Amino acid sequence: MYPKADKFNDQKDLIYAASTTLKRYGVLIVENCFTENEINNFLEKNKEIDPRLNISKEKISENYLNVNHMQIPLCRNIFLLDPRIIDTIEMAYNEGNIKKTKNENIYIRRLSSIGYFNATKKNIINNWTSGWHVDFPTQITTHVILDDLSKESTRMQVLPMTKELLLIPGKHYHIDHNFNDLNKYFLDCVGPKGTLYIHTGNTLHRNFPVINTDRFLWSQIYTIDKAFEAITNKDKSEILKNSNDFYNSLNQNQIEKVKIMLELPDFLEKGKSNYFKFVNGKYINASKNDLTYL
Ligand SMILES: [Fe+2]
Repeated sequence: MYPKADKFNDQKDLIYAASTTLKRYGVLIVENCFTENEINNFLEKNKEIDPRLNISKEKISENYLNVNHMQIPLCRNIFLLDPRIIDTIEMAYNEGNIKKTKNENIYIRRLSSIGYFNATKKNIINNWTSGWHVDFPTQITTHVILDDLSKESTRMQVLPMTKELLLIPGKHYHIDHNFNDLNKYFLDCVGPKGTLYIHTGNTLHRNFPVINTDRFLWSQIYTIDKAFEAITNKDKSEILKNSNDFYNSLNQNQIEKVKIMLELPDFLEKGKSNYFKFVNGKYINASKNDLTYL
């Protein structure tokens, strides 16, 4: 049901198979999408952002989700604009065609993060995301597994094909209690280091913590509408650190994914505003509700 990267000789074939799966099920897992070498290089280059290396032992066990609040420089964020991710998502939203028959583009809605989830008895209390829910309908959440993740570990679970249902964000769906045997359809988002998984915002999912186990991920939220989370000027300069040449070397398709976010004008900087929209070439203040509806 889900493609395995090593079964494909040509990356284009993998992307086509992956996009078809994402479009059909609203969720996609590609085992070994990125090689062990790619993951090791990514971790080596981003040592100072890696939460496992920079957050104290006490803090790590205090927080369920640990992230370092420094941004990943664009030139070291090797997953963000990789065709295995962006072409797969765009094809899924453009009827299997990269020529954009429906003219749907994706953009980064929020900044990337490296997240380390470390579940303890104490820190999983009140974790809202552990209930079944949908996100905002037009967003697409992407993860790359940075350390082997087993079915017995803290993981995300998804219920495929639920994107066809009319579900509302911000609410828990108690499907475990209300339907018998539904758990046989739960999909565990696990796999070896380098596994990619993606789910659309209108697909039911939950974060499933297992005490004393952890998961380590690169995460990114893309959007197909032009509604975004604001960033600070500090974020901007960290992202562009040593990355000007890299930015200039990107193709037009890649640039358009990040340009709106990186050119956010000062008056909408995070703090002054939390969300913004980009409408007819203009930046406009927005609220969280603007993420909910098209
Ligand atoms: Fe979610």
